[in-house]
Amino acid sequence: MNATPETVRIVEVGPRDGLQNEKTIVPAAAKVELIDRLSATGLQTIEATSFVSPKWVPQLADAAEVYTGIRKNPGVRYPVLVPNLQGYERAREVGVEEIAVFTAASEAFNRKNINASIAESLERFAPVIERANADKVAVRGYVSTVLGCPYQGEVPLADVVRVATALHAMGCYEISLGDTIGIGTPARARAMLAAVAAEVPMSALAIHFHDTRGQALANILACLELGVGVIDSAVSGVGGCPYARGASGNVASEDVVYMLHGMGIATGIDLPKLIETGQWLSAQLARDNGSKVGKAA
Ligand code: HMG
Ligand code: MG
Repeated sequence: MNATPETVRIVEVGPRDGLQNEKTIVPAAAKVELIDRLSATGLQTIEATSFVSPKWVPQLADAAEVYTGIRKNPGVRYPVLVPNLQGYERAREVGVEEIAVFTAASEAFNRKNINASIAESLERFAPVIERANADKVAVRGYVSTVLGCPYQGEVPLADVVRVATALHAMGCYEISLGDTIGIGTPARARAMLAAVAAEVPMSALAIHFHDTRGQALANILACLELGVGVIDSAVSGVGGCPYARGASGNVASEDVVYMLHGMGIATGIDLPKLIETGQWLSAQLARDNGSKVGKAA
């Protein structure tokens, strides 16, 4: 079956998933400039930051300052990560209109990442989602370790399906399926997506690949053919997960957009502007540009 969509929405996660794991702590003003630059590329969704514990993720301790500082483009949504009610309240104080809650398909990873079992995390999200519904705040949900876990190894597909289904039933409008450590390969990625899509509509699913082993674009292509229409990626391939040692950056947004446009799939993104933003970010981080397209340009 080839159900490749004609348009894809990119969820740019660089300012959050990227910068949460960079060794350099980027000053708030530079984070704001990054998001403002991304806002001018045609992206529709930019995950701006995380209202998590600053002890756990010091890189994003300036979440309120960053969120307040960005020039909100009315055509762009700026979701933020929220782990609990305390994070929800901090986010709402600065006017956040969309949040993302996050859990995993692996118990071991969840314990390291958010100090909770999967069941406890879902219990923790219930009042957050309830408050968000009452406040008309949209909620996205993440399931991590969908293709393998750095602590437990194999992650049964049934666990991925169960957690994704639970988040959807709780009111998350979209579930992002995360290959946190970039361990997947195309056939397994496709089988995972197909299993989840049997329970949750494909229109409510997104894919989130880290590129640790250079498999991300191949995995994305395999999933596109099943009809997924939302892809998470990070400008310049920044990041990783602080609680998944060895996890490298997200797939680079520039590379994903280059592939999609080459396949005739519209994203609404101005690729040269995105590449320029990736190069600007790399200069801020004094690192090599992770995007292959950025390098070639
Ligand atoms: P805990 O230590 O169990 O929390 O952490 P607690 O409720 O016992 O509170 C301990 C302290 O943290 C208290 O302060 C709280 O006030 C404070 P103290 O009394 O000690 O001074 N606290 C907070 N402060 C600010 N904002 C908050 C907050 N909550 C508690 N929201 C907790 C539990 C969930 C808070 C912690 O584990 C945490 O913040 N974890 C976040 C880890 C993280 O951000 N990981 C990366 C994101 S996930 C990811 O990258 C994967 C993804 O990209 C998809 C993929 O790739 O698979 C999404
Ligand atoms: Mg991630």
